[in-house]
Amino acid sequence: MADHILNTWYVAAWSDEVTNKPIRRMICEQSIVLYRISDDQAKALADRCAHRAFPLSKGRMLGDSIECGYHGFTYGPDGRCTKVPGQTTLPERAVVRSYPLHEKDGWIWVWMGGDPADADPSDIPDTHWMNDPNWTSVEHSLQVDCRAELVHDNLLDLTHESFLHKTTVGDDYIYEYGITVEVDDNVVLVDRLMPSVPAPPLYADTMGIDGNWDRFHATEFFVPNNLTLHSGITAEGAPREEGYLIKVLNAITPIDAHTCWYYYSFARNFAVDNVEATEQLREGLGLVLEEDKDALEAQELGMQTRPGREFDVLIAQDGGVAKARRIHQALLKKEAKEREAKEPRRPGAPANTKPIGAAARRQAQKAAAAGAGRSAAESTTSAEATSTAAGGR
Ligand code: FES
Ligand SMILES: [Fe+2]
Repeated sequence: MADHILNTWYVAAWSDEVTNKPIRRMICEQSIVLYRISDDQAKALADRCAHRAFPLSKGRMLGDSIECGYHGFTYGPDGRCTKVPGQTTLPERAVVRSYPLHEKDGWIWVWMGGDPADADPSDIPDTHWMNDPNWTSVEHSLQVDCRAELVHDNLLDLTHESFLHKTTVGDDYIYEYGITVEVDDNVVLVDRLMPSVPAPPLYADTMGIDGNWDRFHATEFFVPNNLTLHSGITAEGAPREEGYLIKVLNAITPIDAHTCWYYYSFARNFAVDNVEATEQLREGLGLVLEEDKDALEAQELGMQTRPGREFDVLIAQDGGVAKARRIHQALLKKEAKEREAKEPRRPGAPANTKPIGAAARRQAQKAAAAGAGRSAAESTTSAEATSTAAGGR
């Protein structure tokens, strides 16, 4: 199992994908069943019946409960088994994990951390542009056969637009402008200002403008999974909030070590009622995302065949990538430590005072030396002791 950061909210689905017909989603290598109960609340349980691991997503809804399609165990929305066919007693372990969910602005977020008490919806980044009457948006979602981190890198370094998207969005000057990088706790902001450039076609066509404008891209990465691209054009020298603005919300949800879900919403505050522009954007952005998907999947193959001694060559444009990776690693380490501290000891097992590493080797050598002078019968015991001291089984 790969390392995934679990103490966070991940987008699990679009709101309209989840109905009273259960669906399955694999998130961070955990299979989850999503469905709605009668008051329209979305629910998420482990997609694995406690009886014999049959996926509950293959079962059916009975009121607010879900019935396993194999032998009929029935589970309430809290994951507790409420019925076992043919008997009145309910086994204590007949329960499946239930996951905290939060729904807003068209996305359903799932908390993957071990302690539901830590699941605070106010930690979810702002997504209101998806649901604001002054904005309009187009959406896409796709499964990409690459590790989630490659999508993060892709969005933190938009100079790829000049090359990968040459025939779609083009913008062959982006790499000529440098970036500034800011870090605030677990958020990395990569900002690129492109002063006095011609209005890009989307703005020029929909707003009937020409001449030169200040253009900007600011990618805000909420490590480890959500990236909001604040982009737009303003009159030269004018404040950004007065411009024609775009917010691209990107939610990247790992499926496993080599696959992820990419949820995408592109919102704009100009030409909001221009239905034709919206449809053209939907089609055009779909093509751009396909270009990204093709590149990311090819890159994943490159990563999988790259010798362990080779590493990325980071350049000035990768300032944000480098900072984000550091935060990602620190979060992984922190969670591993917390898990280690919480790991309950098996009842009756001795406290873990076994030496490790060099200390274990020294102790094993000592034990071996002490045992060398003993009788053959004693040496057998000594060998077992050595093996135990060195952590063998
Ligand atoms: S596997 Fe679900 S009831 Fe048997
Ligand atoms: Fe791209």
